[in-house]
Amino acid sequence: MRILHLIIRIIEGLVRTIDINIRKVDHMKAVDEGRIESILSKLTLEEKVAMIHGEGLFQSGGVKRLGIPPLVMSDGPMGVRKEFELKVWKAAGTTDDYVTYLPSNSAVAATWNRQKAYDMGRVLGAEARGRGKDVILAPGINIKRSPLCGRNFEYMSEDPLLVSELAVPLIRGIQENDVAACVKHFVANNQETDRLQVDTYIDEQALREIYFPGFKAALYKGESLTIMGAYNKLYGEHCSQSRYLLTKILRDEWGYDGTVISDWGGVHDTTEAAESGLDIEMGSAFDNTYMAEPLLKAVREGRISEECIDRKIRNVLRTMLRLKMLGEEAKDRKPGAYNLPEHREAALSIARESIILLKNEDARLPIKREKLKSIAVIGYNAQAQHAGGGGSAEIKALYEISPLLGIKVKLGGSLQVNYAKGYYVPPKKARHNQDDPNASEKELEIKQQEEDRKKKEKLYMEAVELAGRSDEVIFIGGLNHEYDTEGRDRPDMKLPYGQDELINAILDVNPNTVIVMVAGSAVDMEAWADRAKAIVWNYYNGIEGGNALADVLFGVVNPSGKLPESFPKALEDCPAHKIGEFGKTNKVTYKEGIFVGYRYYNTEGTDLRYCFGHGLSYTQFSYSNMKADVREDKDDAEVTISLNVKNTGSMDGAEAVQIYVHSLRPSTKRPEHELKGFEKVYLKAGEERRLSITLDKEAFGYYDTSCKCFRVEPGEYEIQAASSSRDVRLTGVINLAGSYRYI
Ligand code: BGC
Repeated sequence: MRILHLIIRIIEGLVRTIDINIRKVDHMKAVDEGRIESILSKLTLEEKVAMIHGEGLFQSGGVKRLGIPPLVMSDGPMGVRKEFELKVWKAAGTTDDYVTYLPSNSAVAATWNRQKAYDMGRVLGAEARGRGKDVILAPGINIKRSPLCGRNFEYMSEDPLLVSELAVPLIRGIQENDVAACVKHFVANNQETDRLQVDTYIDEQALREIYFPGFKAALYKGESLTIMGAYNKLYGEHCSQSRYLLTKILRDEWGYDGTVISDWGGVHDTTEAAESGLDIEMGSAFDNTYMAEPLLKAVREGRISEECIDRKIRNVLRTMLRLKMLGEEAKDRKPGAYNLPEHREAALSIARESIILLKNEDARLPIKREKLKSIAVIGYNAQAQHAGGGGSAEIKALYEISPLLGIKVKLGGSLQVNYAKGYYVPPKKARHNQDDPNASEKELEIKQQEEDRKKKEKLYMEAVELAGRSDEVIFIGGLNHEYDTEGRDRPDMKLPYGQDELINAILDVNPNTVIVMVAGSAVDMEAWADRAKAIVWNYYNGIEGGNALADVLFGVVNPSGKLPESFPKALEDCPAHKIGEFGKTNKVTYKEGIFVGYRYYNTEGTDLRYCFGHGLSYTQFSYSNMKADVREDKDDAEVTISLNVKNTGSMDGAEAVQIYVHSLRPSTKRPEHELKGFEKVYLKAGEERRLSITLDKEAFGYYDTSCKCFRVEPGEYEIQAASSSRDVRLTGVINLAGSYRYI
């Protein structure tokens, strides 16, 4: 690590301030509020109530008489979900709802590329509009607090800055198509265990520093037209009807005037829902909708004021106007389109950039195709189709290129590709009936298990035999949507289906085997990671995922993905488990506070398998000549960091340069360092470029509960330019003279 000279320029006449800057979401597209009032005045109470609850699984009520259509919604984060019947959870079974299956949000985060997030949004929005939707229930941006959260694959990262920086362009991309994004799930939906009831306790500092920023950015900078409340409770209130979250924070403090939608069945009380900042109650039990008949009755009896309802109607109408859904403007609304070739190209390009080369000893990868005679591909995930699973993120994909298909497409017919499944994935029903008290069923299960054991052994033997006689072996395993799924968390970090044993047996007979993990969140690789020469990480990667993986394995694409989350060696090391609580029913307390992910590991010096921000390339990059330019005035500070990055290897490639800030003498305990900026740079072999990354004062702030505001302390801050959170290449110290407070 070299200490570089930093230019520190402090504007003269700097004045210290104790004013608190409060900024509101006041810049969302202005609409004709008079028009809203005029429509409102024509609506009957019954019509108003119809507009604020689900009258179908995925649509609110409209008012035909006044030309107000329903708001039509659809999941989800990886493409537009299949059509359902209007009021029952039954697939419509049509053939016109196949769509482009997009890479998961974890994959988007692994690109560290704002443009890719924007491209993802553009495609998602165009397809949603093309399918006639008004609201796409995406993106999911909850923090990856523990590797075990079943929905981690739908989420982006453990780091709020990375989440914010990618959610914003993603949302903007969606909304360019006259479709609303619905950023979800506000807030702290970080576990699936007891998700409908669990009460979450997070100290305010952690809430403000870790769990709020992604949502705040989605509304302030992304201008998300809608937002979804979470299922879980926070401080005793269900998030989808929480006065604290939806009224105090969202409406009063942040000034949000878009539409707040409940999670499906997330409302539990008419008065709370009516009086909170919630606008539309969604769900699937139409005979038990709190914001339908019970609300009507409560208003008629004078227990709830009609003004509560009018507020919601204004928010709904405002969103409709912003989407050009009403009156004459409707004819100018973009029509969207789905399944376009360019959508598949975008999916491929995002997928390629998301793949992470975790380990590459002896330059084991890329595989040199010219030298190959035959190749063995082993592992269930090589041919698995993932699009149709995972819960509400499921996709009826137009097609899905599996890794095996991608490899075969790449290699052509002159080369023998031998495939062995390797590990046995039992059919669903065999696994979930263990608590059955019925003895005869038990016997059946034992018999089933015995059969499974035999199948497993057979696949294992075949795979090891194949690996032993093959020059080139690629193992493709990991998880699937039995584990990465909505509605339940993983029981542990272990690889299922006996994969550890299988991988070790394969490495015994073929130590050069390349290991590919397909999963949505960290898995325990301790049994074999030190032995394997090459390890590749692949999040669920969309319609062209197999082609993208083959491109990386065979060197058509130089990998440039970096981990958006830490990979601990053991679950016990993870702060949510070691210090806090995770996966409990009734109540969970996030005792680790702000020390989530690398904020904890890098402060404690925990031994990790792979750290946050890690990802190798087939080329190398050098960093040099860092400078920082500090500008301060009465209420603001801005630090521009510039540095040179050079591709010193022989292959073109891309590097995600990461900027961390380390506060040198904080008055309160702070993480070792925090990500505050990044930029991905594409460099031809030998090319050098000067990058410039600007940090605003918020990069130096922390939430101080005593002033109930963010505070920047004057003093010294180390700026770190890094290739990963544990590969800091350049450091330098700046001095901030001002002291700032903001919300
Ligand atoms: C999920 C949401 C989803 C909704 C509608 C809920 O169970 O939590 O993410 O958008 O269902 O399918």
